[in-house]
Amino acid sequence: MTETLFTGIAQLVTPPPGPQRGAAMRELMVIQNAALLVRDGLIAWVGSENEAPTASAKHGLGGVAVVPGLIDPHTHAVWAGDRLGDFEARVAGVPYETILATGGGIRSSIAATAAATVEELVALARPRLEALHRSGATTVEVKSGYGLDFAAELRMLRAVRELGREFAVIPTLLIHVPPTEGREAYVRGVCETLIPEAAAEGLATAVDVFCEAESFSVEETRKIFEAAQAHGLKLKLHADQFHAIGGTELACRMGALSVDHLEASGGAQIAALAASKTVATILPGVTLHLGLPAAPGRALIDAGAALALGTDLNPGSSPLFSAQLALALAVRLNGLTPAEALTAATVNAAAALGLTDRGSLSVGQRADFLTLNGPDWRDLPYTLGANPLRDVFVGGVKR
Ligand code: NIG
Ligand code: FE
Repeated sequence: MTETLFTGIAQLVTPPPGPQRGAAMRELMVIQNAALLVRDGLIAWVGSENEAPTASAKHGLGGVAVVPGLIDPHTHAVWAGDRLGDFEARVAGVPYETILATGGGIRSSIAATAAATVEELVALARPRLEALHRSGATTVEVKSGYGLDFAAELRMLRAVRELGREFAVIPTLLIHVPPTEGREAYVRGVCETLIPEAAAEGLATAVDVFCEAESFSVEETRKIFEAAQAHGLKLKLHADQFHAIGGTELACRMGALSVDHLEASGGAQIAALAASKTVATILPGVTLHLGLPAAPGRALIDAGAALALGTDLNPGSSPLFSAQLALALAVRLNGLTPAEALTAATVNAAAALGLTDRGSLSVGQRADFLTLNGPDWRDLPYTLGANPLRDVFVGGVKR
């Protein structure tokens, strides 16, 4: 047994274990002059320092604020090639959907990624995950989706598995865009070959689909979701990014873990999410980078939904390498309060991945936590473009 008592915590701030919905997202637990006991990687006790139990080892933190490690529930951190040309074209006025429809965009990332080996993909993704880690992300979801052909999709997932030796990563099989020809046969192959293979090898915990006018239809999404469920995989969805075509409603009906994006969601989609257990995940980096409308974060919380937030780190729509900055942007762009943003980036992000063992600094949870440079946790949602974090602890160990 190893145990460490962390002391010198000016302020310990955490949501209760989640998920939290609606107004409950604002109810944080705040302990001034706190201490935290970690035993074998888990939180064994938390409270006021003057009531702390004794422990074999002590670690003074010197009077800083402590919050839970952030959970980034949506990234495409494995890719090859770049989208710098797309970026220049877009800022000159060519829309993202037009670039995609004319064979660029996601399709150019597919060409480069499908040509890379597992080792190359790991080497490209490692510094991206390191950046997310330094920004406070102690668990990161990583999707496939730039493979298109099945062998390349599985190579991406094997790269994620390799990265799992160094980082806490949660792998998702993303069915991203259909081939330009033979989409019916492709969807059949996804259901009958790719999903069964990924499930049998334990390469993914969930299946995600990009349900959009330029990508997969609601009916195609339903078929893919049914195959995923038949193989014991959870469901996630990219929906309402450009058009609300019914994907959100389908995902809520089928019990998906989360629906992500939601920039084009209206009243019907907000009501569907509020009435379901499905987490609504917003991605403010996309709003910033593509200049899209912001997802209705405020309205979703006010309607009673469980809201999470993520970076959507990817080369095309969100080159955002900081989970802390995603949190700070959600306050500015989506109308979240700082407290709601912390809940969205921790316990609710865990729920968007089907995890209940992390995200809250409560007894029994993983001791994944962050120390700030100063004594007030609000530097976390406040700071733009510098790192307000001093250290990142995973399982009670500084990493
Ligand atoms: O979450 N919208 C679809 N997929 C990604 C973008 C991927 C890309 O542009 O390469 C997203 O925004
Ligand atoms: Fe995405």
